Amino acid sequence: MLPVITTERLRLRPLSRADLDDFHEYCKVKGVGESAGWIHHSSLAESRFVLNRLLSATTQSIFALELRASGKMIGTIGIKDILGVGSVFRPLFGFEIGYVLSKDYWGQGLMPEAVGKVLRYCFAVLNAKALYLDIFEGNDRSMGVAKKLGFAFIGKDVEPTKFASGTFLVNHFMLSRDEWSRNKQGVV
Ligand SMILES: CC(C)(COP(=O)(O)OP(=O)(O)OC[C@H]1O[C@@H](n2cnc3c(N)ncnc32)[C@H](O)[C@@H]1OP(=O)(O)O)[C@@H](O)C(=O)NCCC(=O)NCCS
Repeated sequence: MLPVITTERLRLRPLSRADLDDFHEYCKVKGVGESAGWIHHSSLAESRFVLNRLLSATTQSIFALELRASGKMIGTIGIKDILGVGSVFRPLFGFEIGYVLSKDYWGQGLMPEAVGKVLRYCFAVLNAKALYLDIFEGNDRSMGVAKKLGFAFIGKDVEPTKFASGTFLVNHFMLSRDEWSRNKQGVV
């Protein structure tokens, strides 16, 4: 079970069924999911289906990001078990991090603030040796988050997507625990 973690502006706590309305509010906006590999939602029923699927996933744990000032849920951070440890893009035991923020709150440094704390949780509590981020080519905002937190680019390859094009160029980023300990970037 994920803990509750607080940052200056956010409260991170386990995602729940009660988040449906706030979840739908940002998942229906075009351009949010498309940056992360999924198509924006076209109905509340679709958001309910996706939320239920996320909540029943056995290979990932998901934090909901709640604004401390209002209690509104404005995004998520997922910690995903990785398969194929030892492969070229996954050399060490660890987790893949995925994040999404409501478009209304982009550009305020909220995601680096939240992910910084999640890094510490993964390294110090879950004992990860490394964390990984996969970012689509052209997603400069997410690349900005990766760089702020000290992730290093380790290579790119082509992966399947749900979009008509069928594939996308993906940039692989990694942060090792050793590197994180040296820099303690993103840790407040
Ligand atoms: C990626 C995302 C989480 C960034 O969160 P955020 O809280 O807005 O992050 P920041 O405020 O730190 O901005 C990140 C970086 O984006 C870049 N950025 C900000 N505004 C920008 C703009 N108008 N155009 C291009 N890049 C911009 C900057 O590099 C910025 O870093 P800086 O503040 O040092 O300049 C958010 O945009 C999002 O949820 N996008 C949709 C889903 C997604 O892409 N998920 C990640 C999949 S890998």
